[in-house]
Amino acid sequence: MPPSKKAPSPQPPARLLELRALLAEANDAYYRRGHSLMTDAAFDALLKELEALEEKVTAAHPGFADANSPALRVGSDLSEPGTGFRKAAHKYPMLSIQNTYSEEEVRDFHRQVTGKIPEAEVEYVCEPKIDGVAMSLVYEDRVLTQAVTRGDGTQGDDVTRNIRTIRTIPQKLPKDWPAGRIEVRGEVYMTQADFLAFNEYSMRVYDRELQNPRNTASGSLKLKDPKEAAKRPLSFFAYAVLSDEAEGTHWENLERLAKAKFPVNALREKVAPSADVMADVLKVCARWEKIRDDLPYLIDGVVIKVNGLRQQAALGRTAKNPKWVIAFKYKTEAAETVLESVSYQVGRTGVVTPVANLKPVQLGGTTVKRATLHNFDEIERLGLRVPDIVMVEKGGEIIPKITAAVVEKRPQLKTRSRPILPPEACPVCGSELSKDEEEVAWRCDNLQCPAQVQRALLHFGSRGAMNIENLGPALMDALIESGKVRDVADLYALKREDLEALERMAEKSAQNVIAGLEESKARGLDRLLFGLGIRFIGKTSGKVLARHFGTLEALQNASMEELEKVNEIGGRMAQSLFDYFHNPANLKVLEKLKKHGLKVDYEAPAGEQTLAGQTWVITGTLPTWSRDEAREILENAGAKVSESVSKKTTALLTGEAAGSKLAKAEKLGVPVKTEEEVRALLGM
Ligand code: IVH
Repeated sequence: MPPSKKAPSPQPPARLLELRALLAEANDAYYRRGHSLMTDAAFDALLKELEALEEKVTAAHPGFADANSPALRVGSDLSEPGTGFRKAAHKYPMLSIQNTYSEEEVRDFHRQVTGKIPEAEVEYVCEPKIDGVAMSLVYEDRVLTQAVTRGDGTQGDDVTRNIRTIRTIPQKLPKDWPAGRIEVRGEVYMTQADFLAFNEYSMRVYDRELQNPRNTASGSLKLKDPKEAAKRPLSFFAYAVLSDEAEGTHWENLERLAKAKFPVNALREKVAPSADVMADVLKVCARWEKIRDDLPYLIDGVVIKVNGLRQQAALGRTAKNPKWVIAFKYKTEAAETVLESVSYQVGRTGVVTPVANLKPVQLGGTTVKRATLHNFDEIERLGLRVPDIVMVEKGGEIIPKITAAVVEKRPQLKTRSRPILPPEACPVCGSELSKDEEEVAWRCDNLQCPAQVQRALLHFGSRGAMNIENLGPALMDALIESGKVRDVADLYALKREDLEALERMAEKSAQNVIAGLEESKARGLDRLLFGLGIRFIGKTSGKVLARHFGTLEALQNASMEELEKVNEIGGRMAQSLFDYFHNPANLKVLEKLKKHGLKVDYEAPAGEQTLAGQTWVITGTLPTWSRDEAREILENAGAKVSESVSKKTTALLTGEAAGSKLAKAEKLGVPVKTEEEVRALLGM
């Protein structure tokens, strides 16, 4: 008798496994790596499909359930162990919100609410859904003690030191708030203007394009150095107060938060109970959608919350979402168009970025002709060819972006499409391109490449650097083309006649340019270092280096060890400086600059001796400065730093957990200052 064959054990449907894996990967990219693999809408649609499938499959086969399914868990932004962030547990889980694009589902939500709460008592609060990063702020006895990201919902990353650098977040609650533990939740975000300015800076200084405000905000919170985080223009909106005694209404909490000087979004609306309350709620949603593009920050929908806190508690939650809140999401406008060609931009440090040239198409009120493609990995991921039929979206991104190729429409194209490959040579100078192992970017290493020269010159002349008046991109191009200018030092060799010889250059303008150049010679070492465009050296590091070394010569001769020892100069910066000052081509330029009479040393401006003749004492833990740093900063500003408080003490710089020194200062009437106040005082 043949051995009895066992029936094959049943397998979960392939689509279920596929969706779980796909969404887990998208979550990981979004929350951990700050990169979107798909649009929000695409993610939401797949999640919806997964939720339905999970329900159907696990009803028949409970064994196929997976507690880690993205349908049941919030996406995690927890950083990897060993990356320097302590984990902190959430007292109240940080959940996600159920969301929908459909008015009908908003009405379903209301039906569920009224299943538990009499309709006549259901009041809603509408708030814009800010596209940022959720944050939990813990206050103990009215003092901010901890700031934690959502993480996996039960524990998050402790980012307190970075959060303390956001000036609009109160470090203390007013006296009329109860003592004990209070948790404030809200969203850290970046305004569009701040993002664009920071992106411009990032492109200019780091040659790196940022994806969108949300990822930039999230990345900023995960910086290891709070001083770096302090430079990021982050904003905050508070939208919830959590405590054990949930009395009153959510609306009252928002008012309390605003009174306690938390930034609370002014766009909030209470919708009173009525026979058709949801009609009114949806009207608010429609009204805000119209003004959406005029807001200074990105919103992706409206959060609709049951107002009564007891009602909220009565409604409860699932493992993933509270049942008293829903987000009505706005559809992102998308359009189909033809990707006609790809051009390549060469950045200041030689990074080659592909840019899509599109058949012009109307989108969100503007005509879109170009879209960024980020890099070649992105092109490969999207499977783009050229020409191609593509979908473009503006949605959560400020810069339009291609979200997909419409593969089935390719046959409509008149020309056969071919793959998009990295150019074999620099599109501007023809030099060979190189690619680092770990980097996705292709780079032109020719320092004389005109594209790099033009950008380097513009950076050199920009406001934060040498601030050379009257030297715009068109003139720069003309100068490079004429062969008169090949590096920043050549600018100072220009004569009026050279400029007048250029087309469309009037006598007066030529004179202005020469005057602008002359004036810029005195900017000093800090601005010069920034202006030279040394990789990773920004405005602040330029200043730190100038202050530390005093002269260009001292900096040029510094060893790796000496560079690394400088406060605030990391290993990457030190290496970049060292390489820069050991490259003969750069040394030649520096020599020429010196010959033209540029100021190559550093003189502390008068303002920096603001504290001359004063005596300061430091106590407690400061938000971002270490003791040594604080001492150095005060001393650089002319103050004497002493160990103990006396009548002669000018001021006490105080931080968290300050003890007897603070008490003594208060007793003697010695002024007490925070790090933030000192920063303001010194214009930092
Ligand atoms: S309330 C339990 N209000 O949206 C509900 N969330 O997709 C707590 N968000 O994690 C959140 N604006 O990061 C709330 N006005 C707002 C919001 C808001 C943005 C974010 C928040 C949340 C995510 C859910």
